[in-house]
Amino acid sequence: MNYQIQLIENPNTSELLEIKELFLEIFDEWKESWVLGTVQCHNRVCLIKVMSADQKQVVGFKLGYAVSPRTFYSWLGGVAPTFRGQGLARETIVHLTKWCQKNGYEKITTKSMNKFKPMMILNLKMGFDIVGTEVDQDGKDQVLFEKKL
Ligand SMILES: CC(C)(COP(=O)(O)OP(=O)(O)OC[C@H]1O[C@@H](n2cnc3c(N)ncnc32)[C@H](O)[C@@H]1OP(=O)(O)O)[C@@H](O)C(=O)NCCC(=O)NCCS
Repeated sequence: MNYQIQLIENPNTSELLEIKELFLEIFDEWKESWVLGTVQCHNRVCLIKVMSADQKQVVGFKLGYAVSPRTFYSWLGGVAPTFRGQGLARETIVHLTKWCQKNGYEKITTKSMNKFKPMMILNLKMGFDIVGTEVDQDGKDQVLFEKKL
């Protein structure tokens, strides 16, 4: 696979802004104060970027943060539509898992919802278990996943 994975611990604002174009492409909107504000509220953050072969374009990402010394929350992620189906999202989870193991976390948690079914399938394939559901503040059902390390 001719892509490069970059893992950035505690990314600063300019490093976070590097995912803005990709984020817009995937989710159609970029909620800057939400992304930057959430990251600022946490002191152990991990950003994984998948760079294109020429290293000019971010084509995939995973962003999360510790919610306790032993639990890491995988918050957001995605791959540019034209780069899907090549195992890139899988790679981001592999890298995140290794980093979490190295840093003493015992589990990775994440949440997803019905509109993100490919991500739910991917989570299950990557060893996450469904551990519950909850209703978010917009009244949408969230499926809770957990991967023991
Ligand atoms: C989910 C997403 C990240 C997958 O990216 P990807 O790079 O295409 O995924 P991969 O190629 O690594 O796929 C890994 C596995 O996931 C599963 N998968 C991925 N996309 C799938 C799809 N559209 N339908 C069914 N299964 C899918 C496959 O089983 C695949 O396993 P395989 O290689 O054995 O076939 C991508 O579709 C995406 O960015 N979606 C929008 C963003 C999103 O939903 N984010 C979640 C909210 S934060």
